[in-house]
Formats: sequence, structure tokens, C-alpha cells
Amino acid sequence: MNVLDRPPVPPASSDTRVPVFVPYVGVDTLKHLTDAFDVGWLGMGATTKEFEERIAAYLGLRDRYVVATNTGTSALHIALLAAGIGPGDEVITPSFNYCADHQAVRATGAEVVMCDIRDDDLGIDVASAASLITPRTKAIIPLHFSGIPCRIDEVYALAAQHGLRVIEDACHGFGSTVNGAKIGSGGDVHCFSFDPVKIITSIDGGCVVTPHREEVERLHRLRLLGVDKDTTLRYQNKRAWDYDVVSEGFRYHLTNIMASVGVSQIKRVDEFIASRRAVCERYSAAFDGLDGARVLRRSYADVSPFIYSLRVLNGKREALIEHLAARGVDVGIHFVPVHKHTWFADAPRSPMPVTERVVDEVVTLPLHSLMAERSIQRVIDGVTSFFA
Ligand SMILES: Cc1ncc(COP(=O)(O)O)c(C=O)c1O
Repeated sequence: MNVLDRPPVPPASSDTRVPVFVPYVGVDTLKHLTDAFDVGWLGMGATTKEFEERIAAYLGLRDRYVVATNTGTSALHIALLAAGIGPGDEVITPSFNYCADHQAVRATGAEVVMCDIRDDDLGIDVASAASLITPRTKAIIPLHFSGIPCRIDEVYALAAQHGLRVIEDACHGFGSTVNGAKIGSGGDVHCFSFDPVKIITSIDGGCVVTPHREEVERLHRLRLLGVDKDTTLRYQNKRAWDYDVVSEGFRYHLTNIMASVGVSQIKRVDEFIASRRAVCERYSAAFDGLDGARVLRRSYADVSPFIYSLRVLNGKREALIEHLAARGVDVGIHFVPVHKHTWFADAPRSPMPVTERVVDEVVTLPLHSLMAERSIQRVIDGVTSFFA
């Protein structure tokens, strides 16, 4: 069958396995892609701009700006640079996070300093972060783990007390809300990821959302080799030939082709999120109260869930993983704590009692947009039969 004739359902799980991630790619996405190829301007251009505008509209941004990038990691890197982070500075983020943040900090020449997390939402432990503040500290990167909002008000209170920037890692939380407002629509700078397995994907991609008008041009130049003027013309599918290179810069732009995938996906984001929320709530209803398991949440009303994380107590996680594997259910582990990685073993950090415990408990169960009923049931049966 030609891909364009495929019905608009996700490839979902096969009958033999339920994968952890199944990117949703329907005919609508393929149509956007072929239309983008037909335009004939493959690089950064008008569709990149359209994607940025749709992100701004979706997040309900007012007086805030979106700069699309080719990954969430590059978004973090240029957000840090635009915030003035560099050699001699320190940036605090949890060890229980993806290594992208830590690499982005070090790429600026600054040092990453790792704090612990809270036992309830697995988000940043602000007291642990506070204990790491020195005169060199310039910023904090809190993470909304799995899409569940962390205690962000406490982070901003700490930042205000010490004059720190906050770069929220919202890579898991596109569409999650805090006090009814989407993450990204208030506060300082936010970074999102649209990588292949995120709630919406542009194959690879990301963006910075900033309230600082004066940092937008800097972000544009950092995104594209430090070239001035380029963004305005490229947004019209044109190039400037009398350009100047006015700062450092990277090849971090998002192309029209990738953005076309992102546009197709953001048009359906509410449907994706609603379907994922429903699965998470079914999982939690089935697993809450099982002897030896702990759910993070019962209600997902404010969460745009990227992954579903279950805590397995009493050293039974590996046995559960084997039990699920035998029933055709794949799992993931988020995360290996970053202070355990060779490259970051020497980075300064606080004591990590919660992180050290949690990383042996967490298991990521399959969660897909528009997940097939038989897959959901297979996961529920697999987990409940283990604890029975
Ligand atoms: C918490 C977190 N931060 C940053 C990133 C980096 O995003 P990207 O893969 O788009 O570079 C990821 C990616 O999975 C992530 O999970």
C-alpha cells in the first residue's frame, strides 16, 4: 500500500509487542510533507514561521516570542547563551533529567551543578537547589518531568531571591498547565522539544519561548551562524546576499520540511493530549493501591503526558520488566541520573537521597497518542498480573 493511502491511524503496536513509543504519523502529516516539498523551498522559511506562530497561538502567548530550532538541545544551548551564561558561571538542574541539559550548559563554557528531586512529583527539590547557590550561580533549569508540572512557583521565588535566570525545561510538557495557563505562557524562558517521540514531533525539532524582546535577535543569530538579516528574508522563502556575520552562531535552524511535520501535528495536539491523558488515568486507576507499586498521579487534568512513569518498590523493578517482556510489553527507563555518567561524574552536586532511590524504582510504560485499546489492556493486564 502506498503510504498516502494508509488510513489515518497510528502504526500502533503489532500483535506481538507493545512498544514504549509509537510516533503518530497519519496521512495528514504526509500531505503536509508533500505540500512542503512542492513549494520547493526546503530550508528554513515560511513554514518555519508558520510553525512558530502556531506554537505561540497554542500556548496562548502574549508579548512572548517563539524561536524554532532543530532540537530541544539546541534550544537549551542558545537560550542559555542568550541569557548571558558562559565560562565561570554555574547552572543548577536536577541530576534526574536528560543529559541534554547538562551538555547544553557545558557547551556554553559554564559548569552544571546537580540537585536532588522531590519524592512526590519527581520535580526539582528547591531546598536542594538552594543549598548549591554560590556567587557563580546564574541560572536554574527545572524540569517538568513526564509533563507533570514541578513546583515552579518555588523555583521563581528562589530565583528572585538570588537574581537568577530560570530556563524551564518544558521538553516533556508541551500543553501542560499551571494554574490554568499553559507552561510557556508565563515566567522566564522555556525550551520545548519536538523530537521523534514527543507529544508532537517535527521529526527533530524544538523551540525557545522568551518574554525578552531584546534576546530574540540574539537567538535568531545564534540559531543561524551569527548572520544578520537572514531570518526576516528566510521567513519569506528568500535569502539575503549582502549579509554580515555579527556574532557566534550555529546551524540550529528548523527547516520548512521539518516544520511542515510540526504544523500537521500541532493541528491535532488537543486530540493527542486528550487520548494520552485518558490512558494515564486508566493506568493510574488500575495501578494505584497495588501492593508494591506507586503511581505519580491519579488525575492528569493539568498534564500533557509525554510518558507514564510507574514506581516499583521493594527492588522488584527488574522482575516486573521481565514479566512484561514475556507478555510483549516493552518498557523504558527515565532516567539514568546524569551524575552517574562518566562525563559528568566530576560535576558538583548536592546529596541525592531521593534521586538515588527513585532511579531504581521508575519504569516507563507504553504510552502513545490514540493508543490502540488492545495495547492499553495488554499493559494493564501485564502490570496487574505481576502484583496480583
Ligand atoms: C528532559 C529533556 N530535556 C531535553 C531534551 C532534549 O530534546 P531533543 O531530543 O529535542 O534534543 C529531552 C529529549 O528527550 C528531554 O527529555
